[in-house]
Amino acid sequence: MESKDSDLVEKILDFKKKRDAVILAHNYQLGEVQDIADFVGDSLELSQNAAKTDARVIVFCGVHFMAETASILCPDKVVLLPDMNAGCPMADMITAERLLAKKREHPQATVVCYVNSSAEVKAESDICCTSANAAKVVQSLDAQQILFIPDQYLGHYVSAKTGKRMILWPGFCPTHVRIKPERIRELKREYPQAKVVVHPECTPEVIALADEVLSTSGMCRYARRDDVREMVVGTELGIIYRLKKENPEKRFIPVSEQAICPNMKLITLEKVLWSLEEMRPEVRVPEGVRLRAKAAVDKMLKII
Ligand code: 13P
Ligand code: SF4
Repeated sequence: MESKDSDLVEKILDFKKKRDAVILAHNYQLGEVQDIADFVGDSLELSQNAAKTDARVIVFCGVHFMAETASILCPDKVVLLPDMNAGCPMADMITAERLLAKKREHPQATVVCYVNSSAEVKAESDICCTSANAAKVVQSLDAQQILFIPDQYLGHYVSAKTGKRMILWPGFCPTHVRIKPERIRELKREYPQAKVVVHPECTPEVIALADEVLSTSGMCRYARRDDVREMVVGTELGIIYRLKKENPEKRFIPVSEQAICPNMKLITLEKVLWSLEEMRPEVRVPEGVRLRAKAAVDKMLKII
């Protein structure tokens, strides 16, 4: 570690103690940010960790909807997002107003909301899901009609897996659409022994070529298996850091070096330190919205 970084890390650890804070980081965060976190995980694990922490402050190294979910679950805690500009373009592809209009078109539909969405959108939904549990959530429903928002590709995957037809919102992740089936075909020829593992936000053409379709932490667990020596990885590039760190003797081949989520990379060590020093920027969800959004998140947490 460079001495500039080790100075920063020391200060972060000091302030973390002073503020009674816990640092949670998503699997796509920069390596140096993952290294100072108390816990690194996928959206589901991060929300579960936020819900059970005793710390007074949560520094959320991820994107806005993730920090909001922590705030929805822990209104008594201060949730800091070190850069307020760290959003999720997919979450921005739907608003509560547009969802309400769609619900008027389909008044019987049960709304299943991918956690990559704003608190206002969750508040208008019946149940949430993450990439780790989406099929289980949909399978559990006894619904005449399901409206799945906002990721059409996750929705398509879940629909194929569960055999349930759903109305799909036309959202998508701009990072995951950079993962192309042609490149996977080339890599399969180049590394015939490798397992192909992709995220369910990938397109159906990509998913059709995969051995496994997993959440980011699902990929980390899969990589630890003895029969996995080489893995072609179809998700955001940041996960390669954790995969290599935990499995130094194995080979991880990203499908695309361009599959980078610029929002995830906005969180830096400097910004983590500033947020702890100044106790901002804080993410807090207004109580009326929070309670309705929490009902949808709690329903999900109950069935997993
Ligand atoms: P995971 O919950 O699988 O970590 O996915 C979150 C995400 O934003 C993927 O783009
Ligand atoms: Fe959103 Fe895609 Fe970034 Fe995940 S990778 S936070 S879905 S833009």
